[in-house]
Amino acid sequence: MKGIILAGGLATRLRPLTWVTNKHLLPIYNKPMIYYPLEAMAKAGIKEVLITSSPDHAGDFANLLTTGEEFSLRLYYAVQKNPKGGIADAISLAEEFAKDEKTLVMLGDNIFNFDLRKSALEFENQGNGAMVFGIKMPTDSQQYGVIEMDNKGKVLSIEEKPENPKSDIAQTGIYMYDSQVFTFIKSLSPSGRGELEVTDLNNFYLKQGLLQCRLIDWWIDAGTSYDELLRANTMVAEKVKGGQL
Ligand code: DAU
Repeated sequence: MKGIILAGGLATRLRPLTWVTNKHLLPIYNKPMIYYPLEAMAKAGIKEVLITSSPDHAGDFANLLTTGEEFSLRLYYAVQKNPKGGIADAISLAEEFAKDEKTLVMLGDNIFNFDLRKSALEFENQGNGAMVFGIKMPTDSQQYGVIEMDNKGKVLSIEEKPENPKSDIAQTGIYMYDSQVFTFIKSLSPSGRGELEVTDLNNFYLKQGLLQCRLIDWWIDAGTSYDELLRANTMVAEKVKGGQL
């Protein structure tokens, strides 16, 4: 399985911190944000990772991370011409890199400590499909993709930032896809906010009965707001000091 980490976007919600710096280079306690998904990739057993970023900042990642040796990974870099093309647009840059392999995709601002190795092995050994990872979020789920499931864990719907969420389960930025993903992305159209949406992509799999969901325990999207960025710093500091990270 190949890894893809997304580190583009404009991070307008974190300005002025992100006027000249890429969000994924901001500190989370003692490391730049991008280190956390990279470590999670290595822990999941991935060996090769493509990092996608905007034209302004792609070089910064190469400067910081070089070959990826430090993480026991082999790193590759791609430029997303339109930094707000959308998550699915960024994933499409990996078509040549992934060839016919399955992919593990992580949004570069997601901080979590769930061990993905077991799910990755299961996913690698199964047939076609996609897997998303959700988390129970009693408040604020409308800031994310929202996953509705039945009591057997079957996904019924996923809606992007709905006004009236159908559940309290947020879609995290961790996704696994089979090699059809690149064909599916070609059939997507930009959403109202002008992006190729990951939620539309996941709904494509859902409609074909090819989407699974797993729940994880703690997770933060550090790019949502200053408060979430601060919470990510505090939580990581506590976990590092407590030996949990
Ligand atoms: O973090 C989880 C949420 O991420 C999900 O619940 C949502 O369903 C999903 O749409 C996404 O929502 P966000 O509004 O948080 O997405 P954001 O624009 O912040 O971008 C997420 C990451 O992807 C961020 O690390 C930047 C990167 N990105 C984003 C866009 C739009 C790119 O690399 N390229 C892009 O074009």
